Amino acid sequence: MLTIVVGGFFGDEGKGKIVSYLGLNDKPAYAVRCGAVNAGHTVVYNGKKWKLRAIPSAFLNKETILLIAAGSLIRLDVLFKEIRETGSEGRVFLDRNTGIIEEEHVERERRNKYLSLEIGSTLQGVGEAMVDRVLRKLRLARDFNELRNIVTDVSSIVNEALDKGLNVVVEGTQGTFLSLYHGTYPYVTSRDTTASAFASEVGIGPKKVDEVIVVLKAYVTRVGSGPLPNELSQEEIVRRGWVERATVTSRLRRAAPFNYELARKAIMLNSATQVAITKLDKLFPEAYGIREWSKLPMEARKWVENVEERLKVPITLIGTGEDSKQIIDRRKDLGVS
Ligand code: GTP
Ligand code: IMP
Ligand code: MG
Repeated sequence: MLTIVVGGFFGDEGKGKIVSYLGLNDKPAYAVRCGAVNAGHTVVYNGKKWKLRAIPSAFLNKETILLIAAGSLIRLDVLFKEIRETGSEGRVFLDRNTGIIEEEHVERERRNKYLSLEIGSTLQGVGEAMVDRVLRKLRLARDFNELRNIVTDVSSIVNEALDKGLNVVVEGTQGTFLSLYHGTYPYVTSRDTTASAFASEVGIGPKKVDEVIVVLKAYVTRVGSGPLPNELSQEEIVRRGWVERATVTSRLRRAAPFNYELARKAIMLNSATQVAITKLDKLFPEAYGIREWSKLPMEARKWVENVEERLKVPITLIGTGEDSKQIIDRRKDLGVS
């Protein structure tokens, strides 16, 4: 069974946490990370914290093989550091065609005033590497000697696994409205960030996708420039306890209340079969750490039910804290796989 996890707002919805939980609970045979190193996924488990920019957040499950998609763009130093930090030696593999970002790309972005001042780019070299890829001069994983033992054919591995009935999780990055095609252009990232695009990055045809989980935070955040409907002042963000800093750049995240219009559009663009809501504990502090639906405070349950009714998609996973296990999993109760 193939599950794709994507962001439904402007990124940082908590895909890292959701995928790490799916790793521990569903024990997928393979997890595939898409996107690039401008996206930081946070995983917190048993008092430890990881900020992942290259390898899949499902690494917590030691049996899961960790793959990086052909459509990804990564940096070698980031990759090797994360393999070490997560103790994932021997089970991380990249597609032969994964793009490699080099120092030159980072320098080009740093010199680019439009990207830094107008767009508010993370300046990780991703857009410039994408430019080189389109111009067909980017070096790929297969061109690097130091990767020769870990390059493989990810699309074949995943398609064969699906044919055998194994579980595969695909981890998207950023959020639907940072999509190069469907987002708030030009205030977007340098790739499409919807489920179809991530399937394509891995090399999976649309008919093989079983579940699409759109992750929505209980409020909306955005880093960098671009429109954010109903944006709150910094004082109001502090008052509500919604202060966040970006995983890669440490910039303060802008914030706004939960947005139904964006959520509906994200559900449509991704053909969501499930919605995951993170940070319910930030709206209802009494919900912190709760793992059973019946134990949630009535007010929190009502809020979730109201969102579910308005979005018309089952809310299957509910984050109640940073830890991978601080989650309510309603999939069995709702009859969703
Ligand atoms: P991008 O691919 O960059 O969009 O990142 P992401 O979606 O993986 O999110 P990221 O980890 O950057 O940001 C989410 C933040 O929320 C992290 O600090 C998480 O630890 C935290 N988080 C996720 N789920 C919950 C939750 O249910 N409750 C609380 N309190 N924190 C959460
Ligand atoms: P770039 O893709 O790094 O050039 O950044 C372009 C825009 O996308 C900027 O507004 C960034 O803040 C935003 N962005 C890129 N990656 C992420 C992410 O992982 N989370 C949130 N915003 C991101
Ligand atoms: Mg992030």
